[in-house]
Order: sequence, then structure tokens, then C-alpha cells
Amino acid sequence: MALSDTLTALVQEAVDAAGWGEVRIDPVQPTRNPEHGEYQSNCAFRLSKVARMKPRDAAQKLAESMSEHPALERVEIAGPGFLNLHVAASALGAGLAEQCADEHLGVGQREGCVVIDYSSPNVAKRMHVGHLRSTVIGAALDRMHRFAGFEVVADNHIGDWGTQFGKLIVAWDAWLDEAGFEADPIGELERIYVKFAQDADDAMNAQARVETARLQAGDERNLGLWKRFIDVSMKEFEGLYDRMDIRFDVTYGESHYNDALQPLVDDILAKGVAEESKGAIVVPFTKKDGKGLGDTPLLIRKADGAALYGTTDLATVRFRLDEWAPVKMLYVTDTRQQLHFRQFFAASKKLGWVSDGMLEHVWFGLLSLPEGAMSSRKGNVIRLKDLLDEAVSRARAVVDHSSSHLPEEERAAIAEAVGIGAVRYADLSQNPQSNVTFEWDRMLAMDGNTAPFLMYSLARCRSIQRKGELSGEVAAFTPVEPLERELTKMLLKFPEVFDTALSSYRPNMLCDYLFQVAKALNRFYAEHRVLDAEGDTRVCRTSLVEATARTLEQGLGLLGIRALERM
Ligand code: ARG
Repeated sequence: MALSDTLTALVQEAVDAAGWGEVRIDPVQPTRNPEHGEYQSNCAFRLSKVARMKPRDAAQKLAESMSEHPALERVEIAGPGFLNLHVAASALGAGLAEQCADEHLGVGQREGCVVIDYSSPNVAKRMHVGHLRSTVIGAALDRMHRFAGFEVVADNHIGDWGTQFGKLIVAWDAWLDEAGFEADPIGELERIYVKFAQDADDAMNAQARVETARLQAGDERNLGLWKRFIDVSMKEFEGLYDRMDIRFDVTYGESHYNDALQPLVDDILAKGVAEESKGAIVVPFTKKDGKGLGDTPLLIRKADGAALYGTTDLATVRFRLDEWAPVKMLYVTDTRQQLHFRQFFAASKKLGWVSDGMLEHVWFGLLSLPEGAMSSRKGNVIRLKDLLDEAVSRARAVVDHSSSHLPEEERAAIAEAVGIGAVRYADLSQNPQSNVTFEWDRMLAMDGNTAPFLMYSLARCRSIQRKGELSGEVAAFTPVEPLERELTKMLLKFPEVFDTALSSYRPNMLCDYLFQVAKALNRFYAEHRVLDAEGDTRVCRTSLVEATARTLEQGLGLLGIRALERM
């Protein structure tokens, strides 16, 4: 149980004892200003009605009945009726010990399934920088939801169907270089696809439409080629996912829904949710259906009978509801797809499939790299692999300098973790909705709000523990010095910060918090000796080192960043 839960229960007890009837109070919240104590409750405002007294008087009554409790140093009434809880030092330390004894560090456990649709690249092309944010933010949300107790289905909704395959098949027949394909399958597919875009004449384009239609009709040769294209792409994607410690539960791409599309359109028509418009089938909206929807219907069948991206997404919603009965589905894509998501979310609602807030588009801003950010830039699309390699090689230079005492092999492993961690962190530490620019020097800096700084702070705790041969226990301790108290209180905030980051889909709030923790650790450690301390002081300080390490390790893990024992 988190300390805040204990305190909430305490206030609840006082409320129950006041004899005002049964009222469930809201959880207490950490205060911003330490002068107001550590936690605050605003329950007196709601209670004032049933208590038939002013909020301040109700608060006064509660404060009196709590004043003797050993966990509280004192209770203060502030403003028009806030209850400020000043927690006793021993209760802070005991609370932190309890938080650390919990494998979820005090985070309350939820129930239900959440489907998270992220990464989702289109196949037959390499993953490029444009895929990074969905992959990194999606993976963080995935880990955070699992940590909160949800049953997560991570679904990589790859773009594995559509007109690009007709083009690829024509290009394959015309230009395939067998040896090139042998050596670098996806590179060769990319080459012939680009060549098609540049060089295909009308006849080839017409042929591509024929091949797409054949593929969709189940032609064996085309299906065989298509499967090969997908296999080759998945191999490439999986290499990158492995490197980034990402695993999907399912990869049901667009093609998975093929057979469901036409019956679905018929069904939506029959329900009267869709209508015909110039030979096509659309779901019309009015302003009441949501922001910006009034004048843009969702096209679900073209006049030539073809289904579209939106049709597939509707089929996907239906499938996921039937398969997993999720409480929520999250979609992680960039800002440019906002209208698309608003449209099929609204259509799903009109169909009575979902309630408000069940479908969430977690959209993010664009990522850019400053000129000259890549030392070996080939072509104009920056591949994800090249970006990661660049990060790792730059991290290697930093690590060789800072950890020259470590063996070569270990430095290489550290550089891999630091480089990829730095890329992830530079992305995650921004509000997802703002645009991000990567600046290598800044994201690899050993101080500042960066992955290397957090990883280093954690490794520092571990090194203190190794040196003192400490057991890694968080005992119930009493923080005495201001910097001990500050760090204790900071660590106690983890469950609340996590909850806010989770419910707002903003991993950056977790990043900000971990940065605060690391800074508090450094202030504490600069001022106080840990291993030379004795008695209760030693118990306090060694416990703080372990509690900090565990919080940083857990936090970094949620962001998908590897924790290192030393660096
Ligand atoms: N494949 C799409 C793209 O590359 C992203 C798919 C996102 N998920 C979805 N269910 N629409 O833009």
C-alpha cells in the first residue's frame, strides 16, 4: 500500500467517526509546497453539506480527531477548508519501506484488457525515422499499462495490404536483381518499389492494378509473392524490435480483415448508419458527432467496390471487441491521422459498439533531425537502423571516455544501452503532442534530463551498494536531515505520478519525475556519507539508496530503457 492510501484511509476513518453518514472521500494528494505538509485532502468541501457546517469547521472537526495519530506530526487547516497533513518522519520512512516491499511500488492494480495499436509500419519498406515515435511511445504505454495491472494486447497493425503490392509485383517481374535480393532482400524490394514510382509508364500502372485485383481475388502466384514480401519485411522489423526490447502479442495487419470488409459495409448500410453517395458508401456525420466531423463523411466503399483504410479500421474495432472485450483501445500515430481516427471512432459510436472514451487516439507531433545529424546519410529517408547505429556510436565515444576502466566488451554493451536509451528518452521526455528535434550532444549529456544521467544515477547507487556489500534492503527508517526527508518524500510520490502519467498517456511526466529523483539523490549524496554512517543514520541512508535505485530502475524499465549495474 502507498503511504497516500494509508493516509486516505486515516482521513476516511475520521469522516466515518464524525457521524455525518456514509461518504467516500477522494484520495489525498501530495502537496506542491512542502510548507503545507506532505499530503492534502479537500474532502471538507464535499462534506460541508452533510455536516451542515462550513468546510473549515468540518475540516477542524476531522483535524481534531486525527491529531493524536502517530503517523501525523500535525494536521493544519488551510484556506477555506483544506486539510494539510504533516506526516511524522518515522511514518515517511515506514511508508517508503512499505512502498518498496510492493512489487508495483504502491501503484494500485487495475483490471480489464487494453489493446494498444502501435508501431504499425507499412511493409515492403524499411522502418525509418518516421516510425520511431509510435514505436517508442507505444512501447512505454504498453509497459505502463501492464504495470498497472491491465491485461495488455499489443497489436502491431502493419500495413500489409493495398495497391502497393500490385506495383511491387510488376516491378518484381520487370527489374528484380536476384543476387541483390539474396544479399539484402528488403533493400532490393525498396529499390524496385522506388524505381516503379519513378519509371513506371501507363501500361505498367495499368498492369499493377490488374495484379492488385488478382492478389485480392486470391491468385496463387501473387499471394505467394505477397507472403514473401511480408516475411522479408517482418524479419527486418523484428531485428529492430529485438534491439529495442519490444514484443507484440499479435501482428494482425490490415490483411487479417480482408474477408470481413464487404459484409461489414453491407451490415452498416443495413443498419442505416451508412448511405450511398455518388455510387460510393459513406458514413455521414453531423456537427453533433464531434469536432470537425460535420462536413467530412467517412468513405467505406468506393464506387468501384474497393474498401479503404477506414473500412479496415472499423473491422478491426469490431474484431478486437469480439476477441478480447477490452475496456480501452489505444492507437498511437502521428498528428496527421487525427481526422481519420475521429471519423471511425464516431462511426463506431453510431454503430453502438463503443462508449465515449473507449477508443483513444494518442497522437504525437513530428520528429526532426537537425542538418548534419547523421554522419553517413544515404538517400533522403533516414532508416531507423541507421539512427540507432548513429546513437550507439556516439554513445560509444562518451562511454569510452567516462568508463575507460571497463573491459571493451562491457563498454560496447553499455554504449548499446545508452545510445538506444538516449534516443528513446529524448522522444519520451517531451510532451507527446509537441514536435521533437534530436540533438545528439544534448541527449547524450551526462547531466540534465537525459537517459545517460538517469542510468548513471542508478549505476551510482549500485556501485555504493557493491562497495559497502549492502543487502539491498529498504528498512523502516526515520529521515532526519532535510536532504534525507526531501529524497524520501520524492520517492513516495511515485504512485501518484505514475497514475497521472498513465491516465493522460504522457510518459514525459514519468521522465520529469525520474529526473527530480535523480537530482534529489545527487544532492543527498553530495552532502551525506552513506557507508561511513552508523546506527539509525546508516539504516536511513542505505535504505534511501536502495529505494532510489529501485524507483529509477522501475521507472527506466517502464520507458523501455535498460538498467545497468555499472557504467
Ligand atoms: N500503417 C499506418 C501508417 O503507417 C498506421 C496504422 C495505425 N493503426 C491503425 N489502426 N490505423 O500510417
